[in-house]
Amino acid sequence: MSRLTAVILAAGLGTRMKSALPKVLHPIAGRPLLHYAVRAAFEAGVDHALVVTSGHQQIDQLLAREFGEKVSTVVQDPPRGTGDAARVGIEQVKTDRVVILCGDTPLVRAEELARLVSALEEPGAGELSLMTCALDNPHGYGRVLRDAAGRVTEVREQRDLASPAEHAVREVNAGMYAGQTEVLRRALTQIQPNNSQGEYYLTDVIALVARTSRVTGVLGHADALLGVNDRGQLAEAEEIMLRRIRLRHAKNGVTVRGAPRIDDRVEIGEDSVIEDSVVLRGHTRIGRSTFVDAGCVIDDSNIGDGVRLLPYTVIHSSNVGDAAQLGPFTHLRPKSEIEAEAHLGNFVETKNTRVRRGAKANHLAYLGDGDIGERANVGAGTIFCNYDGFNKHQTVIGADAFIGSDSQLVAPITIGRGAYVASGTTVVNDVPDDALALGRIKQENKLGYAPKLKARFAAIKAAKKP
Ligand code: UD1
Ligand code: CA
Repeated sequence: MSRLTAVILAAGLGTRMKSALPKVLHPIAGRPLLHYAVRAAFEAGVDHALVVTSGHQQIDQLLAREFGEKVSTVVQDPPRGTGDAARVGIEQVKTDRVVILCGDTPLVRAEELARLVSALEEPGAGELSLMTCALDNPHGYGRVLRDAAGRVTEVREQRDLASPAEHAVREVNAGMYAGQTEVLRRALTQIQPNNSQGEYYLTDVIALVARTSRVTGVLGHADALLGVNDRGQLAEAEEIMLRRIRLRHAKNGVTVRGAPRIDDRVEIGEDSVIEDSVVLRGHTRIGRSTFVDAGCVIDDSNIGDGVRLLPYTVIHSSNVGDAAQLGPFTHLRPKSEIEAEAHLGNFVETKNTRVRRGAKANHLAYLGDGDIGERANVGAGTIFCNYDGFNKHQTVIGADAFIGSDSQLVAPITIGRGAYVASGTTVVNDVPDDALALGRIKQENKLGYAPKLKARFAAIKAAKKP
């Protein structure tokens, strides 16, 4: 197969987004719009992509980061229409054939683009093919006009439609084309901006090519053409993309219940279960046979195999080892390292803390800047006092240590292996291995005192009554 270039049009102003961010950089499912069109082009067999932009640096940076040298950009300034943008792009194309698509149509599928290209190779095929869709409501799209023999003769824009018969045409132009580079280049120099918008229309090349050669219309799925012009369409496109992503995981052996939001980058192993209303974002990886219950939110994190995440667990930039159990309502802030088989329960917050293999903190705790030894048990209400108002300090707990409920460990502090901190202790000195730290005030029992106390309170209450 001879080499193939894609020209991707992304220089439009995007004013309807009402945003400081260029339109094609608005994300859906965790990636900028433009990413999807470029990726689809490569998956369809394109060797190089030329993106026509308004010259925005952020777009160049994104493309370089995600696709490296396989993509280059060319600036169209000012934007004078899709035909002008395509001309600017095609000037740089060095291959015999070219695919043209728009940067704002993220739902385009690689296999449909590939069909568009292979349509050029069919016996008796023409020099240009375009993707079309049949819509119940074609309003707003360019209409594909055909002659009596069914050959494509022209694409006419909504604003330039004349007869009621033209208005009634339901076959629309999806804005994706494949053709011989020379033929398109020549046609693009011939188009004129004599239409209602005074713009150069890329669609005018259809009629020019159709005069001397054949133009093939390739029918595609209606959802593939959805172009994002405003935030309503952004939301619509994202819904469709999220549905596709859920389906992709389901096909790979993941049980996906209801409608979790799973970003495009997320990886999930076989036999894992993702419940409804879960949000998985960024570079998140979930292992095999892991259960993520309702309401969990996970960002940029690695979750191992056989992990149980109970409802409403929130995890940011952290790692969770195999067979660990978290939640409900556990909060891992960045740089938490939860090792295999560790358990963290309700309202336990960690940050920059390692919880070693098999350690437990099952209820109500703040564990910041710590290192908790293997099998250690941290009781309810424990607080690592890691901040003195100026600096953060470390709390280190040895293996098999026991921290009684409602203890405060004032960092920097080290609790030895197998040591025992009695409930309610404020620990300010290091505790040696196997020692007991007991820091409470000694308890006194006054025998028979309770009835006296009750009588005194009753008297006060009676005196207050009018
Ligand atoms: C275009 C087609 C229409 C088709 C529809 C499908 C034309 C004239 N019309 O209309 O037939 O049904 O797509 O979605 O082509 N762009 C530039 N420079 C410009 C203008 C636009 O790079 O000067 C880029 C935009 O960033 C966008 C793409 O071209 O990615 C399409 O432009 P847009 O204005 O959205 O075209 P439509 O009106 O949607
Ligand atoms: Ca558009």
